[in-house]
Amino acid sequence: MKKLTTFLVLGAGCLFLASCDNEESASKEPTVTYRKMTDAISVVLRSDRTAYTKNIVARLKKEGVMPSEHWKDEKQKTLLPAQMFRAGQEIAMSRDPGFFYQLKSIWPINPKNLPNEFEKAGFEKVAESGGAENFYGQEEIDGQKYFVAIYPDVAVSPACVDCHNEHKDSPRKDFKMDEVMGGIVIRVPME
Ligand code: HEC
Repeated sequence: MKKLTTFLVLGAGCLFLASCDNEESASKEPTVTYRKMTDAISVVLRSDRTAYTKNIVARLKKEGVMPSEHWKDEKQKTLLPAQMFRAGQEIAMSRDPGFFYQLKSIWPINPKNLPNEFEKAGFEKVAESGGAENFYGQEEIDGQKYFVAIYPDVAVSPACVDCHNEHKDSPRKDFKMDEVMGGIVIRVPME
């Protein structure tokens, strides 16, 4: 009888907490698709990027502090939006978040930001759609499959256009406001 009571109490506790550690409950754990995951990450990355450019860079400019590649060595300078993005990325990557991301373009100032062949086709599609569409695909590298998503990086401020068009290393000098200048690639290793 005592055994039966213990069994019933444990059973009721299980039902009540709905957290019994068995395989059945683990398989019912809610999951999100790769696309939902990368879509959500991209919203945060792009919002932070826009907030930095529109609020901080624009405000500092009025006070005579300009964005510069050499912000570390020069006085009255702040990080370029791309450097701000990379500063966050480096911290994120050091925490091993289970995915990779990078800001790239088919017209890069820094050749290190060129997409690979697979990504290039995606960047072209995103640019052709005027930034209305994202690109999703799967790529295998060294036996590892990746879910790859590309989101447009758009000229949200005249500062984006002016700096890129005037930069000596920019292969394009005709960017316009609201145009796609590049994109954020998010890569998730698939199980
Ligand atoms: C003051 C100059 C400046 C401003 C403002 C600026 N950029 Fe850049 N951007 C650069 C430089 C320089 C790089 C290369 C940085 C690196 O990777 O070393 C770069 C990198 C990029 C890249 C990666 C590909 C590449 O060109 O190397 C994209 C995409 C990009 N910027 C888009 C934008 C957008 C969109 C804005 C506005 C939100 C913006 N940039 C604002 C100078 C600027």
